[in-house]
Amino acid sequence: MITVVIGTQWGDEGKGKIIDTLATQHDIVARYQGGANAGHTVVYNNQKFIFHLVPSGILHKHVVGILGNGIVIDPASFFQELTDMEKQGIDFSKRLFIAQNAHITLTYHKILDQIEDAKRGSGKLGTTGRGIGTTYTDKYGRIGIRVSDFINESVFINKLKTALELKNYLFQEYYKKSIISVENLADEYSKYREKFKEMAIDTSYYLNQAIDKGKRILAEGAQGTFLDIDFGTYPFVTASNPISGGACTGLGIGPKKITKVIGVAKAYTTRVGMGPFPTEINDEINQTLRTAGNEFGATTGRPRRCGWFDAIIVRYATVLNGIDELIITKLDVLSGLKTIKIGVKYIYNDQSVDIYPLDTEIFENVDVEYEEMQGWDTNINNISTYKDLPTAAKKYIDRIEELVGTKITAVSVGSAREQIIAR
Ligand code: IMP
Repeated sequence: MITVVIGTQWGDEGKGKIIDTLATQHDIVARYQGGANAGHTVVYNNQKFIFHLVPSGILHKHVVGILGNGIVIDPASFFQELTDMEKQGIDFSKRLFIAQNAHITLTYHKILDQIEDAKRGSGKLGTTGRGIGTTYTDKYGRIGIRVSDFINESVFINKLKTALELKNYLFQEYYKKSIISVENLADEYSKYREKFKEMAIDTSYYLNQAIDKGKRILAEGAQGTFLDIDFGTYPFVTASNPISGGACTGLGIGPKKITKVIGVAKAYTTRVGMGPFPTEINDEINQTLRTAGNEFGATTGRPRRCGWFDAIIVRYATVLNGIDELIITKLDVLSGLKTIKIGVKYIYNDQSVDIYPLDTEIFENVDVEYEEMQGWDTNINNISTYKDLPTAAKKYIDRIEELVGTKITAVSVGSAREQIIAR
């Protein structure tokens, strides 16, 4: 049994918390794409945990965590995270595994990511600078380095020589930066090798065996549907497939093994980095939402752009991902607003556009038609039964469900585990 959890907007929908909650009913939590660009925050016992590469379900002692082959693993960042987890008292020994065929992110990927994005000037993507796109570029360019290569020192050094040949030429001749020495880099990363040896397995085989034994698996998507390399707002996207289909290739499991897809949507919309965002709010409510929702990137600390709920994109996401049920997060952040808007239709060249346009040129230039809903004044953080929510809040959820066309099964009203209300 495999449940996939995915973000239906531009990431930061609060998936970490949902996965943490769902993990109680699962045996394995597996990440299938992205890398240390992700930031999942979980608050437990008043302690805050931020995960970048490690699946957020690891906080539960019975859960096995998997970093699948679709992930790109930065050894330095991974080790920092393991060290932080140890300091916070999480024992992950023998229950955290990484795919032998996942690719690794090295120093030069991070440097290149940052200088390439800066070089784009006004067309910059606003990447997280974590070397994600550049690692995937090497993967598809067939000069990437996989975990199994990294574990074998001589193979690693040979592959490093090949990869660095062109990179160093670029650094020196084009970017006018200093070159990277193979020996220094190999030396710098050698301290991570033993840990990788301990954790590296064929995760696809492991997962398929677990499925046969009846284990329950949660596949954790990072980022969100509209940052997907194929279906997102290209080129303002990440370099992997966060959509549910990515779980098959990123974990090595057959599509028929996926039993459920859960979508997570924030009660409003946010986006970090550049790119079109039709329902972005350009008045002081942007700041109100940012402050109330603490909308700052978990990875880079950048302020997130805030906007109204966009029913057109979330409806598209439910179809694209085959979503069975939707969970709405951060409903509490909207408390206190007099009116709340929902984007229900786009207008382009005086024509109505009912579905999300894949053409970024169109998406960038649409106007949005809104519906206005009445807000609510009461603080809803401590409400634990759905029927106790203010009538206006329930109407807002009903309307979203109607517009998006998928059952909403829960809403979250705060960052703690208990603040999820079943509907
Ligand atoms: P990259 O993934 O670092 O290449 O960045 C590409 C785009 O995806 C940028 O707009 C980033 O801000 C965005 N992005 C990457 N990871 C996340 C995430 O976890 N949450 C939200 N946005 C993200």
